[in-house]
Amino acid sequence: MTDIADWQGSVGRNWAAEWQRTDTSFSGLTPQLLAAIEAEPGNRIVDIGCGAGEVAIAVANGRPDANVIGVDVSPDLVAAAKVRAGNLANLSFELADAAAWSDSRGAPDLYVSRHGVMFLNDPHAAFARLAAQAQPGARLVFSCFRKPSENIWAKAIVELLPDTPGTPAAQYAPGPFAFADPVRVRHCLAGWREVALKPIDFAYVAGAGPDAVAEAMALFQRIGPSAFALRTLPPGERHAFEKRLLALVEAHHDGARVTFSAAAWLVTATSDYSNG
Ligand SMILES: C[S@@+](CC[C@H](N)C(=O)[O-])C[C@H]1O[C@@H](n2cnc3c(N)ncnc32)[C@H](O)[C@@H]1O
Repeated sequence: MTDIADWQGSVGRNWAAEWQRTDTSFSGLTPQLLAAIEAEPGNRIVDIGCGAGEVAIAVANGRPDANVIGVDVSPDLVAAAKVRAGNLANLSFELADAAAWSDSRGAPDLYVSRHGVMFLNDPHAAFARLAAQAQPGARLVFSCFRKPSENIWAKAIVELLPDTPGTPAAQYAPGPFAFADPVRVRHCLAGWREVALKPIDFAYVAGAGPDAVAEAMALFQRIGPSAFALRTLPPGERHAFEKRLLALVEAHHDGARVTFSAAAWLVTATSDYSNG
């Protein structure tokens, strides 16, 4: 589980420090998400859980006549996004819980998100609220992970961890896999119609370039299940885990990149709210 407090604290700080590497990790997915966004109309656009802003910046650059707002709950990520965006006149970022946020420009006509929405605390209520404040017929386009067994970047790392008895996280608790189940996604999108889920398989690029292995190790030290393990394991176990992690990364190095199979849903929907 990764909740708002995590994103407002160390998890958000780590993502802000690592935005170049996390953008690289999504590089097999992002062009497909951006193509799906490009196919949608919309001039008042909101990026939900925008993080360091790659998608919001790309959308704002691609639609000079549109106005884009990125909303995120992490102060470090919003700060990173602002620096990164420079002076793009049609783009701004707001620090807020997207579930409670209102758009001061008026009703949005397009919501987008790259892997942000599965961290919403109560997505059913949040999506109902987002639909209610949108233009009738507003569109929604987001990506999220499918199940862990199809996401080897996570599954292979979890398998390296020592068995630690504990309470398993609730299946739908906010986190990277909270939207893996299509039935759950459709349930959360009550208030939206024409809900469609398209599977996308992509290469999760953990590292690239001349030091791809070192890049991947740097990413995994701060992001994902390995980062949590490295923070919490006792020193002896941590060292052994790091050695197993390095062997895994080396085994996934093809000479140019370190990649793992990853699986996402590309979800689209239309707001069913008629504004009265
Ligand atoms: C996996 S990251 C993805 C970030 C960004 N969309 C990207 O693709 O790089 C999830 C993002 O959702 C944000 N987030 C989590 N809960 C949120 C909430 N309730 N409201 C707004 N943003 C939230 C986090 O701070 C984080 O930036």
